[in-house]
Amino acid sequence: MNKVPPNIHFTQNVNQQLQSCLKLFNPDKIAILVDENTLIHCLPKLPSLKGMPLIQINSGEKNKNIETCQIIWQKLTDFKFTRKSLLVNLGGGVIGDMGGFVAATFKRGIHFINIPTTLLSQVDASIGGKLGIDFNEFKNHIGVFKDPDAIIICDDFLSTLPHRQLKSGFAEIIKHGLIYDLAYWKHIQMNLFSEIKDWQEFIKKSVLVKADVVKKDPYESGLRKILNFGHTLGHSIESWYLDTGKDLLHGEAIAAGMIMEAKLALDLGLIEKGYFEQLVSYIDQVFDRVMVFPTFNKIKALLGQDKKNKGSTVMFSLINGPGSCLFDIEVSDAQIADAIDFYLDSGSHK
Ligand SMILES: NC(=O)c1ccc[n+]([C@@H]2O[C@H](COP(=O)([O-])OP(=O)(O)OC[C@H]3O[C@@H](n4cnc5c(N)ncnc54)[C@H](O)[C@@H]3O)[C@@H](O)[C@H]2O)c1
Repeated sequence: MNKVPPNIHFTQNVNQQLQSCLKLFNPDKIAILVDENTLIHCLPKLPSLKGMPLIQINSGEKNKNIETCQIIWQKLTDFKFTRKSLLVNLGGGVIGDMGGFVAATFKRGIHFINIPTTLLSQVDASIGGKLGIDFNEFKNHIGVFKDPDAIIICDDFLSTLPHRQLKSGFAEIIKHGLIYDLAYWKHIQMNLFSEIKDWQEFIKKSVLVKADVVKKDPYESGLRKILNFGHTLGHSIESWYLDTGKDLLHGEAIAAGMIMEAKLALDLGLIEKGYFEQLVSYIDQVFDRVMVFPTFNKIKALLGQDKKNKGSTVMFSLINGPGSCLFDIEVSDAQIADAIDFYLDSGSHK
C-alpha cells in the first residue's frame, strides 16, 4: 500500500494545521463554507478563522444541488473572490462535494481546503477529488474531478457527530475492507461497531485504501470502479429516497446496496456461500434493513443513469473473494430482482 498523499494531513491540532496550510498557499481572501451544524460544533475549533467571511448553507443531501451552488457562487462574487482566493469547506460529504465543486468551477477554479467533519467524509468522501452535486433525483450527476489543495483530517470532530451519522460512515469502512484489503476486513470483523471508541486507526487505514485505488486510476477508467461496490443499487435507493422526501443516509443506502450486490456476486459464482453469509451477518449486526423500498421498475430507471453504464448496459462492481473486487460485470434483470427479493425477504427490517 502507498503512503498518504502529500495533500492529506492527519492532525490532532486542526487549527495549527490549517494555519500552516494557509501560510503556504498565501491566498488574497479566505471564506468558510459551513452548514448550521458545523457552524456550531466545528467552527469554534478553528479560532484562526475568526472574523473571516462565512457562507452558511442548510445541511443535508436535499440541499446538495444547483440552487445552493448559486447561493455560494453569489457570495464569492459579493466577497470579490479572485483566482488567488481560497474557500475552506468545513463539514461532511455534502459540504466537501458541493463546496469543492463550487470552488473548482468559480472563475475556472480557485483554491480550496476540505476539512471533513463526519466519519464518512474523513474515511471516504474527502479523498479522491470527486466533486459534485445531485441533479433532480440523480446522485452526483453533475461534477468534476479536482483534488483539494489540502485535506485536513482530525478525529476530534467526531465527538459531536450524531450516532446515526457515525454509523453511516462505518458502511464505507466495511466496503474498504471487503473490496481491497483482507487484513483490514478481518480487523473490522473483530470489532463491534458499538464498542469502537478510537477511530484514528480506521480513518488512516481507509484513507490509505481509497488513496491507493485512486492513485492507480484517478479518473475511474478501470480499477477505481471497485469503490462503487454497493453503490450501484445503493445510489438507486438513495436517489429514490431523495426524490420522495424520505429519510435515508448515504451509508445506510450503501449498507443495503452491499448486501444486494454481495448476493449478485454469490449468484454469479464469484464468492462462496460461507463468505457471503459471514459478511451479510456482519452488516446486519450494524445496520437495520431498509424496509420502504422503490419498485423494481423505479430501480431499473434509476440504474439507467448510473455513471458506470456502457451504453444502456448497467455495469456492477462485485466482490470476488475476501478483500477483492471486480468491475464492469454485467448482470441480468432477473438476477437484480432476485438480489432485491433476498434483501427484502431475509434479515430483520426496521
Ligand atoms: N466525493 C466522494 O468521493 C464521495 C464518497 C462518498 C460519499 N460522498 C457523498 O458524501 C455525502 C454524505 O456525506 P456525510 O455522510 O458526511 O453527510 P453530510 O455532509 O450531510 O453530514 C451529515 C450531517 O452531520 C452534520 N455534521 C457534520 N459534521 C458534524 C460534526 N462534527 N458534529 C455534528 N454534526 C455534524 C451535518 O451538518 C449533517 O447534518 C453524500 O452526498 C455522498 O454522495 C462523496
